[in-house]
Amino acid sequence: MVYKSILILGRQPAIGRAELESLYGGRHLEPISQQAIALDIEPDTIAFGRLGGSIRLGVVLAEIPSKEWSVLAQYVAKILPERLRQLPQEGKLKLGLSVFDSTVDNRQLLRTGLELKKICKKTGRSVRLVPNTEPALSSAQVLHNQLTGDLGIEFLLVHSGTKTILAQTTAVQDITAYADRDQNRPKRDARVGMLPPKLAQIIINLATGLLEPTNAHVVLDPFCGTGVILQEAALMGYGSYGTDLEPRMIDYSRANLEWLAGRHHSPPSTLEIGDATTFSWQHPFSAVAAETYLGRPLSTWPNPETLQEVRSTCNTILEKYLQNIASQIPSGLRLCLAIPAWKAPNGHIHHLPLLDHLEKMGYNRVSFECAEAHDLVYYRPEQIVARELLVITRK
Ligand SMILES: C[S@@+](CC[C@H](N)C(=O)[O-])C[C@H]1O[C@@H](n2cnc3c(N)ncnc32)[C@H](O)[C@@H]1O
Repeated sequence: MVYKSILILGRQPAIGRAELESLYGGRHLEPISQQAIALDIEPDTIAFGRLGGSIRLGVVLAEIPSKEWSVLAQYVAKILPERLRQLPQEGKLKLGLSVFDSTVDNRQLLRTGLELKKICKKTGRSVRLVPNTEPALSSAQVLHNQLTGDLGIEFLLVHSGTKTILAQTTAVQDITAYADRDQNRPKRDARVGMLPPKLAQIIINLATGLLEPTNAHVVLDPFCGTGVILQEAALMGYGSYGTDLEPRMIDYSRANLEWLAGRHHSPPSTLEIGDATTFSWQHPFSAVAAETYLGRPLSTWPNPETLQEVRSTCNTILEKYLQNIASQIPSGLRLCLAIPAWKAPNGHIHHLPLLDHLEKMGYNRVSFECAEAHDLVYYRPEQIVARELLVITRK
C-alpha cells in the first residue's frame, strides 16, 4: 500500500482503528504501530473533524529505512528547506517535532530542533521552536502554537518495524471546540452522565459507516438524554431523531439542539418522548447510535449482589429494547450502542449477559479487521462503569 496519510490515534487506539475501518474500509488502512495508522488516501479527503478517536492527521513525506535518531534528524534537516518554500515568505514561523512509538529523549529532540531552527534562520526567517516535554507534543501545544496554520510546521516521526514514517501534520484534534460544545451547551445533567462529544462521534461513526452525511440519512438515538449524540450527528450533517423515556430529557435535548442551530447551520431534529422497550418509531431512520441506560453510577467496586442486580436491570432493559426495535428495522441496518460493562480492580471486565445471545435476538455482531471486539470498551482509568461499544446489524 502507498502511504499517503497518517493518523495518530487517541488514548484507546483500537477504538480509533475501528472507527476508521467503519468509515473508510479495511483495505485503505494499515496499522503501522501501536499509535498510528496509515491510509492510501489523501489527507484532504479525510473528514478529520468528525473523528473522535484520532488526534492528528498528517501528510506522509517519506518512509525512512532507519530508526536511528541521527539518520532521521539528518533527513528532516534535508527536506526542511523545501517545506519552507511552501510557506508564506513573511511572518514568524513556528516549528515542532513529535515522535511516536519511540523512546527518543527530549534532549536529543531539542538538539535537533535547534539545528532545524538554524536552517530556518539561514533563510532569513524568524522562528519559534515549540519545546518538547514529551517525545510528542500535546494537541494543546499544536493547536495553540498554530503548527497546522499557514506559518507552522510540525514533523511527525512514527517508528514502524524497522523503518520510520515521516509526515507533516495537517490537522489536530480541536480540543477547544470539543470543550465548548461540551461545557457551554445550555442543558447538562451529571445524573444521566456526561458523554464526551468525541465519544459521541465515535459511536455515530461506528453506526453510520459509509452512509453519506446528508439530512436524508437520519441517526436515531432512542436513549437521547441531553442530546450529545444528536448534536454531533447534526454537526456531521446527518438528520437526527431522538427519543427518551423522560420528558425532561426531551426538553433538554431540544434546548441544546436549538443552541447548536443558532451557532452552526445544522439539519432539523425530531424529538419524542418514548420508552425504548415498547416505543414504535414513526419517522424513518438509517442508523442507530446511542448511549443506553448505564445503570447506577458506582464510585467503589460493588459487592457481588449489587453488581448482579445492576447488571441484570441493565440487561433486561437492553434486551427488551433490542427485541422491540428488531421488528421495526430492515435487515442490514446498523446500530452502535454504548452499553455498560464493569471494570473490576483486577482489570477483569464484566460484560452484559445478552452479548452471548445476540444471534438468537436477530442481530449479527460486526467484526473489525484492525480491532478485537473486546478492545472496544471505553473507560477512563479510574472508572468502574465502562462503556462497551457494541456494533451490530439486524440479520
Ligand atoms: C446514559 S443516559 C444517555 C445520556 C445521553 N447520551 C446524553 O447525551 O445526555 C441514558 C438515558 O436513557 C434514558 N432511558 C432509560 N431507560 C429508558 C428507556 N426504557 N427508554 C428510553 N430511554 C430510557 C434515560 O432517561 C437517560 O436519559
